Amino acid sequence: MDREHGGGPRTLKAIPELTRPMTRVAIIGTGHVGLATAIAFAQWGHEVVGADVSEKIVGDLRAGKTTHYEPGLPDALGRSLATGRLSFTTDVEGAALPADVVFVCVGTPPKKDGSIDLSQVRKAAGTVGLVMRSAPGYKVVTVKSTVLPGTTGGVVQPALERASGKKGGTDFGLAVNPEFLREGSAVNDALHPDRIVIGAIDERSLRAVEAIYVSVQAPTMATNLRTAEMIKYATNAFLATKVSFANEFANICDTFGGINVDDVIEGIGLDPRINPKFMKAGLGFGGSCFPKDVQAIAAAAHSRRYPSRILTAVLSLNEVQPLRAVRLAETALVSLRGRRVAILGLSFKGGSDDIRESRAVPLARALLRKGAKVVGYDPVVRDEFQKAVPRVEVANDLSTALEAADLCIVHNDWPQWRELKGADFQGMRRKIVIDGRRILNRQALNGVRLIVLGG
Ligand code: UGA
Repeated sequence: MDREHGGGPRTLKAIPELTRPMTRVAIIGTGHVGLATAIAFAQWGHEVVGADVSEKIVGDLRAGKTTHYEPGLPDALGRSLATGRLSFTTDVEGAALPADVVFVCVGTPPKKDGSIDLSQVRKAAGTVGLVMRSAPGYKVVTVKSTVLPGTTGGVVQPALERASGKKGGTDFGLAVNPEFLREGSAVNDALHPDRIVIGAIDERSLRAVEAIYVSVQAPTMATNLRTAEMIKYATNAFLATKVSFANEFANICDTFGGINVDDVIEGIGLDPRINPKFMKAGLGFGGSCFPKDVQAIAAAAHSRRYPSRILTAVLSLNEVQPLRAVRLAETALVSLRGRRVAILGLSFKGGSDDIRESRAVPLARALLRKGAKVVGYDPVVRDEFQKAVPRVEVANDLSTALEAADLCIVHNDWPQWRELKGADFQGMRRKIVIDGRRILNRQALNGVRLIVLGG
């Protein structure tokens, strides 16, 4: 396969004689992506070693305990451990040594200036390179971490070559296999991917990675390294754009009045060219991926003298979107000074304990700036939020959060908010509820003054 520009993407059919039933896989980094990937690969019959530098994480995983909240993850981990094909270690070299394919699943967090911190990727590449220096046999190093186009070929490959003294594309293989799983449904998404994208330096690398997915029914696309890297960014940028588009129209609907934005989205979705999924309006997108990835690709384009107007607009709307709830609150209460305001949902979305880039953080800060007393409640988040915004009181249960509150703002989409009834808001001083996620059941909220973002 052409290194840089490929011969154009291809949809693959597995070629049985080139695929092996079982691949020995090492996964470096057992966070959200690495762990779900390891579990899925083991369930598909591969022999998987998950390596992580943290003794605590490895100890917990060996005992079947998961370190972050993720529905279904403990059970799935238990099932994969029980196959005998999944193990964990802190010995990254030992994991990489026997592996046919080494997946790099380490974090690529943003640095203070917004650029990507590649230190963990570099370290993993250096370690695997050293292993390859003395190990006989051929390995394919596959980057699953989200990295900017050009990183695998321009940073990972040279680091591997320096440390190993070997040549990529000849002595070892190289691939990019982006991950599209969501927090909250990570296990299911990993086990049932909607597509498999493999960017590979050559045919041999491609076949080795493809073989891991041989039992999965999903379209597979083969391309070059940097196109696969870009597909990951373009996917997240497009999804974030859909969310900001829905949010923009929710705000515009509010200026007209008498329009329900969900009906508008449903209506546009009848056009076969428009997919209405993932267009639920709210107080903005958060999490460890969308804000970071959209910023990173926009900044990278800018540094190549292409300032992206669309991505800049997507991000700038997302910055101010939580303030829509503050404005609605001020309209309802006139002034927020001294008012007690409850925020329901502190994680960036329901089904997750992750508060990274959660829009509840700027929402709480804006309410505090307006002089409100802010109390938060979330089914799983407690101390983390308290640390992020110390002036917020984090309640242990819903009724304590709502007790004597003048107003309540629903921030995220935990399914339990859908079950809330008028009686649940009994303890409020004034029963004014802003549904910032369009999730409450309007019919069930007798006695509550409900204000819904987007009508
Ligand atoms: C996202 C992508 O959906 C995954 O495909 C991708 O693999 C992942 O990032 C990643 O790059 O690792 P995730 O961050 O777990 O997954 O969360 P999403 O479910 O995509 O939600 C992102 C944000 O958008 C959340 O704040 C959510 O509340 C918001 N959102 C989502 C909306 O406001 N409206 C929607 O209709 C959908």
